[in-house]
Amino acid sequence: MSRAFYVTTPIYYINGNPHIGHAYTTIVADVLARTARTKGDTFFLTGTDEHGQKVADAAGEAGVTPQEWCDRLVPKWQNLFALFNISYDDFIRTTEPRHERIVQRVFEHLREKGDVYRGVYEGWYCSNDETFWPESKLVEGRCPNPECRREVQWLSEDSWFFKLSKYNDRLLTYFKENPTWVRPRSAYNEMVAMLEEGLEDLSISRSKFDWGISIPGGGGVIYVWFDAILNYLTPVGWSEDEERFGRYWPPSVQLVGKEIARFHTILWPALLWALDLQAPKLVFAHGWITLDGQKIGKSLGNAADVFTLVETFSADAMRYFLLREGHFGSDFSYSETKIHQRYNDELGNDLGNLFRRTLSMLEKYRNGLVPQPGDSHFGERFSDLPKRIDTLIFNLQFRDALEATWELVTALNREIDEKKPWVLAKAENAVALDALLYDLCEGLRWLAILLAPFMPEKAREMWRQLGLETDIDDAWESSLVWGGLAAGTQTSVGDVLFARLELPG
Ligand code: MSP
Repeated sequence: MSRAFYVTTPIYYINGNPHIGHAYTTIVADVLARTARTKGDTFFLTGTDEHGQKVADAAGEAGVTPQEWCDRLVPKWQNLFALFNISYDDFIRTTEPRHERIVQRVFEHLREKGDVYRGVYEGWYCSNDETFWPESKLVEGRCPNPECRREVQWLSEDSWFFKLSKYNDRLLTYFKENPTWVRPRSAYNEMVAMLEEGLEDLSISRSKFDWGISIPGGGGVIYVWFDAILNYLTPVGWSEDEERFGRYWPPSVQLVGKEIARFHTILWPALLWALDLQAPKLVFAHGWITLDGQKIGKSLGNAADVFTLVETFSADAMRYFLLREGHFGSDFSYSETKIHQRYNDELGNDLGNLFRRTLSMLEKYRNGLVPQPGDSHFGERFSDLPKRIDTLIFNLQFRDALEATWELVTALNREIDEKKPWVLAKAENAVALDALLYDLCEGLRWLAILLAPFMPEKAREMWRQLGLETDIDDAWESSLVWGGLAAGTQTSVGDVLFARLELPG
């Protein structure tokens, strides 16, 4: 069993520009990785899925070779992830030799074992989804995926097959015995229904098409999903670094969009068992960001150009919005009005003003120096908050985690409204004013720590203005004891955290 925390995102097709949907999964993984890092050894993997017909077609349309196309597109993903402060530990590209080597090794191993065999594939193929479809599943002769519905092509070619059907019973038993290994429940149920219907063996090679990893010994290229799904094995050292592999395998959480859950919860564990490896501990199939009821994708991507959104709202505000708006696991609709509202209300007013008011009052009444603490009800009242938030994050309930954090934001704002520091100052009630100002600063220190996985830049800025010199990334549980802020710390009022934005008219 792995001792570390290993989290993955799907690897992204680079047939077009990245959009907000791609950013979403990656940001979620980043929040998990940042939280996990405060506890121990963590590995966070993302990357790009570069083979297959879809990518080759995009390159063809642009008049360049597939490899040139990939080399041109990959930096767009990497720039987007840098913009969002994504702290991945490795970025895998499936065209890298380190990955091609692993895929070929798996293929050979399974062929020797007899789980990969030769046959003829006859059936339909949707190159947009890179998926084989049986005749019975087509809808009016088209791809059955409601988001796609494109024309399918008839394929008839010699092919290598993976004996997926051999693992049908073991999969069903595994699902029954591990009712929470696939979440949410809707995805789990869908997969069980698919298993109960029965699995067919999977064609895992293409002979009339060459943008892929060559089959060892010749005979075409490897099917893009077989190639892509193995990316999770490559950077953790499968078959090459036993110690490293033992540390990270099996993955703790694998995040996927719900449309690709079946590859990750049926094909993937079967392949792993064929290699005598353990299935991931959790596959979480999340919902879609929608626009006018439709999944945001390549064609709708421009409606929400993600680079422009970051420019308008800041990376951290977008991270906050994406995690706060929907329940992770359900679809939610995107609109700039909603982002604006959350930005101005929750970030600007609730948090930003609280921070600014507190530091300004401290500046005015105490020259910016944190006073001595007094009697406080906060320590007791919020003693279980860090643990609660921690549990919610690892349970992938990000919205609830942010709501719980806001309990503290609200309580601090209320404290100002009720105790009225300006009245205490006028009455020269120094003891009460010190106690209040201390609590406000200490609460803000807590908030910086609690929000760091969600809004790393803003949290760091809060940390800096609060005059804290340690590394915020080292601060978590042990730092969350009320009273941890040292009296005498010199704070300094700096830039506004979330400058107010006017709604477009
Ligand atoms: N290349 C495959 C995955 C291979 S993993 C071994 C693929 N790529 S993709 O680029 O089409 O989509 C990748 C992921 O992007 C989806 O699983 C999903 O996580 C995310 N999203 C794409 N559009 C999305 C939305 N509109 N909303 C939320 N997430 C979406 O599938």
